[in-house]
Amino acid sequence: MTRAARALGVAVCVLVACSGEKTFDPPDREARVAAADSLFSARLFDTVTWATPEERADAGNAVYAAHCRTCHGATGDGGTAYSEQRGLAVPSLVLDPWPLGAHQDSVRHRIFVGHAAGMPTWGVAGITVREIDAVTHYLVERLRPEVLGVAEPATR
Ligand code: HEC
Repeated sequence: MTRAARALGVAVCVLVACSGEKTFDPPDREARVAAADSLFSARLFDTVTWATPEERADAGNAVYAAHCRTCHGATGDGGTAYSEQRGLAVPSLVLDPWPLGAHQDSVRHRIFVGHAAGMPTWGVAGITVREIDAVTHYLVERLRPEVLGVAEPATR
């Protein structure tokens, strides 16, 4: 039996045959955040290197566009239709000053562990440490009102 077939068998068992209980409990967000927090270490980022800051920013821009923009918005000020439909209170990432943004490690940590209020737990949910580093750099250095020349920084 292939590994995939065995996994499927287990999944079918879990979903249908082996439990009389309902099996689709909503994921416990607090527990996921706590589990990710136990895996986080600032040292995970020690081996990440970039040829140039531009390479890092470009990679971060791509991560942001693919994974963050739907909730946080193209300009980072939050409040997209997508997040509003889901009842998520998405904060602006372009506050000036942005308290979290003063500390790169804090931004990496928040992205890695997510938040029970609806921020995905990215460290265990699909993107790499390198991608978290890139998007952190993008948020801290590039998606800034002062860099983008936005006259009135978002305040919400
Ligand atoms: C499903 C919607 C959703 C997606 C997708 C999402 N976020 Fe969030 N994000 C949230 C919510 C909701 C919060 C508020 C949680 C809280 O109270 O800190 C948040 C908070 C944050 C914060 C903390 C802001 C602060 O000042 O406290 C950062 C940083 C952040 N997100 C970065 C990202 C990055 C980077 C990505 C893409 C890799 C991303 N988010 C994708 C919903 C989302």
